[in-house]
Amino acid sequence: MCGIIGYVGFRDARTVLIESLKRLDYRGYDSAGIAIIDKKLKIFKDKGEIVKIEKQIPQMKGTTGVGHTRWATHGAVTKENAHPHLSCDKKIAIVHNGIIENFNILKEELIKKGHTFLSDTDSEVIAHLIDDIYKGNLEEAMIAATKKIKGSYAIVAISQDEPLKIVGVRKESPLVIGVGDSENFLASDITAFLKYTNRVMFLNDGELCVITANTIRVYDKNQRPITKKEELITWDIKDSEKSGFPHFMLKEIYDQPETVHHVLRGRISEIEETITFPEQVEKLLKNEITSIHIVACGTSFYAGLAGKYLIEQLTNISVFTELASEYRYFGTRNENSLVIAITQSGETADTLAALREAQLSGCRTLVITNVIGSTATRIADGYILQQSGPEIGVAATKTFTSQIILLFLIALKLSIIQKKLGSNELYNYIVQLKALPRYVRDILQRSNDIIAIAKQLKDATSVFFIGRGINYPLSLEGALKLKEISYIHAEGFAAGELKHGPFALLTDETSVVAIVTQDETYEKILANIGEIKARGSKVIAIAEDKDSETEKHADFMLRFSAGSHVLQCIPITVVLQLLAYHVAHLRKCPIDKPRNLAKSVTVE
Ligand code: F6R
Repeated sequence: MCGIIGYVGFRDARTVLIESLKRLDYRGYDSAGIAIIDKKLKIFKDKGEIVKIEKQIPQMKGTTGVGHTRWATHGAVTKENAHPHLSCDKKIAIVHNGIIENFNILKEELIKKGHTFLSDTDSEVIAHLIDDIYKGNLEEAMIAATKKIKGSYAIVAISQDEPLKIVGVRKESPLVIGVGDSENFLASDITAFLKYTNRVMFLNDGELCVITANTIRVYDKNQRPITKKEELITWDIKDSEKSGFPHFMLKEIYDQPETVHHVLRGRISEIEETITFPEQVEKLLKNEITSIHIVACGTSFYAGLAGKYLIEQLTNISVFTELASEYRYFGTRNENSLVIAITQSGETADTLAALREAQLSGCRTLVITNVIGSTATRIADGYILQQSGPEIGVAATKTFTSQIILLFLIALKLSIIQKKLGSNELYNYIVQLKALPRYVRDILQRSNDIIAIAKQLKDATSVFFIGRGINYPLSLEGALKLKEISYIHAEGFAAGELKHGPFALLTDETSVVAIVTQDETYEKILANIGEIKARGSKVIAIAEDKDSETEKHADFMLRFSAGSHVLQCIPITVVLQLLAYHVAHLRKCPIDKPRNLAKSVTVE
């Protein structure tokens, strides 16, 4: 879950590494450090975010170095446990992301051989192991070291004795090469070096690379040299900056008119009346599908739950949405089922494990992800890119709405394949989809109304979110957004479930956000609001502009407009995101980096 960067080239490595770590600190921010070869290997590391410790980092010359921003897994948050870790002679430095499962055994062996350990981390064992094997060639030592290591890793290493090269290797943790002119980069994320280059090479599991300013050598898991394809990333560096917004999360919420447009671009055509996906995806969808299993974690799981409603409404395929952390151990696997993994980062350990399990059982697999070249894209039989640009705020926002839209496009495609959808209907859906950015923009213009309600909620101790149908997963997502960034206890419920238990929690101190849409459950949800009010709780209803009934029942109203749009859930989601954001902002919470959370959960 940590962020790593390596640089070799002509620039001042200190500046490059610090800047890259600032862009990476959404991966982890409890400590940070850099090591640079300035004739000798020099290192600085400490507790705290890179922005806080930057001033203490001494000037170091040198154009080769590695950096790390940590999110603790093994060992407390201390200066000693921060990366980089060094060999005993302080000539080799490594940074690591992942978990070394057999580090205790290796550590004992190395201590017996005379190595002294300074930290409690599993990672330090890598530096000593390489040191133990090193005979003047870093890649050879790295290859031998990784043969002894069990676990998951992305490791980047430098050696004072070979000052013009960095060596990287990966297994189940992301590592990508940034290709420059007379300089090269190695990082856990593209955003780390996007300011300098958008040319990348993705490493696969087991691959090792040796990088100098002018050369890149890559070896497969059997140490055979391989040629890597260079790919161009279309993300803009501006996408990974705040552009005047106080927080990435707010910027990313405001990105949505554009990201909604991007996810549709090239995929819908009202002229040709088609939905188009890449060829491998089309093939997967055309196969006979008896059921679909959607696997994901967190917000992506809630997108998957919304997808169940969308696909089942338009096709006769049964959809089972399952938590990847459960599915990987207990899921049912059926050869004729299609497994769709949803993962913004493409690196979530549980989702990747679920995907691998599904594949081993002979299921066809499809991935929805935002990160080109991510591990998920390389495991699955096909993938669809969200095209949302980098998401930096820990709380997912723009990528959630893109995931739902893609699931709706999949529903439409399957419905066409099943000959359930007439061309008029499809045409209408496409026209409605094209109008979505307008409805999202409309919500963004109503932020003052949302701030007024946020003021009502800012001192709440408990907030419930309720909805029926697709509004149920939205309620779960609304509650997750609020709890993770404002630290207010929040729960989402299917509105019909309240009387089966949660009613016991309702008091005049509870606030309930009710999502009301004028569909077949309209009367029911109004009845639920009445029941809640009878228990003295406050109700904030989110309802359409044209709905004049709900305001007679609720205490406060938040409005959206979406015509008769099939994807009303998109503007409603934006209301929920802004509500969570403004409550957290009023409570002065660290919105982009909520406590104990990191953007990408690459360990189980
Ligand atoms: C919450 C959030 C997380 C992620 C989850 C899965 O705002 O962002 O719940 O959705 O960690 O991440 P991905 O989609 O990268 O697999």
